[in-house]
Amino acid sequence: MNKWIKRALLGAIGLGVLGTAGLAGGAWLGDRKAARQVTVTVAPVAIPTDASSLQRGRYLFATRGCTDCHGANGGGKAFIDDGGGMFVKAPNISPGPGNVVAAYRPEDWVRIIRHGIKPSGQPAFVMPSEDYSRLSDADLGALVAYVKQLPPVGGEGLVMRLPALVKTLYAAGVIQDAAEKIDHALPPAAPVVEDGSARHGAYVANMCIGCHGARLSGGKIPGGPPDWPAASNLTPGEGSAMAHYADAQQFVAMLRTGKRPDGSAVSRVMPFESLREMNDGDALALYTHLKALAPVPVGQR
Ligand code: HEC
Ligand code: HEC
Repeated sequence: MNKWIKRALLGAIGLGVLGTAGLAGGAWLGDRKAARQVTVTVAPVAIPTDASSLQRGRYLFATRGCTDCHGANGGGKAFIDDGGGMFVKAPNISPGPGNVVAAYRPEDWVRIIRHGIKPSGQPAFVMPSEDYSRLSDADLGALVAYVKQLPPVGGEGLVMRLPALVKTLYAAGVIQDAAEKIDHALPPAAPVVEDGSARHGAYVANMCIGCHGARLSGGKIPGGPPDWPAASNLTPGEGSAMAHYADAQQFVAMLRTGKRPDGSAVSRVMPFESLREMNDGDALALYTHLKALAPVPVGQR
């Protein structure tokens, strides 16, 4: 967007001088940004039909966050409802009535999951495709194969109500959509050997970056409702949440139960519906990866 509009918006937000008129203007600019066309070259991915690929797809759908927003049956779920101005219900992505994927061609699946762009060319605003853009071709194909064969269930399309301030921050670039964060020129990620190494863990940890940031140092989640706590720093060093976990078993137990070793509950903003389904191999590799990270001060996303 135009540099001076951006500066003026940021300045106004900083000074707290955005009146109703300013917010209305900001919201208008936000809607315009959401309606922009993003053109990327979408490389096709083979969509397999064999049983072991479907099994892998089922596992990815269950563990990478899809179910937390779209529901285990793909019918769509309200995952943000702060009782005030903010409500987001993910669309039905099963083949049932009311779904948005009815006319999807194979490349449309790749465009939304890997690039964060809808078939219309407009960016998804909330879906964290930056978490999925590094899926290998084989994993992406398996995931799509699984979603495509879900039994049809009813469910409406996207329902999204956002406060004018969120749209204004989006217009100003403080909140970015996935299509802005993704490096669309990168070649697909190479397949990763599931050997429990930090490299294996880094592959799984791609699903954490939408909330914990690309460097996993946590901080306020841009665009999250005001009642969401800041995401924790997962790198070692001062203020790291990893200090709560003396060993890998304690960490894996937290993913399964939603509780820290001292029994206190981690915020339900964490996608535990998915994390608790993660197998030991992925969970232990995650721990190895997080422990091996270089320390980054909290919030330096
Ligand atoms: C944090 C919630 C969230 C997660 C996690 C999530 N989605 Fe979405 N998804 C959404 C929302 C919201 C939309 C509507 C587009 C937008 O973001 O504005 C959407 C849209 C879609 C669409 C349809 C896009 C369109 O309008 O044509 C597909 C297909 C989809 N998601 C698949 C997936 C798959 C597969 C996963 C897991 C790998 C996933 N989503 C994870 C929230 C989520
Ligand atoms: C939808 C957003 C979201 C996603 C995705 C997410 N987290 Fe979190 N996470 C949070 C928030 C918010 C907190 C802070 C929770 C609190 O303060 O209670 C948190 C806290 C944590 C903590 C600290 C728990 C403690 O002991 O206090 C760990 C560890 C963690 N996340 C790991 C992960 C890992 C690993 C992934 C990916 C596999 C992940 N998170 C994905 C939002 C998320």
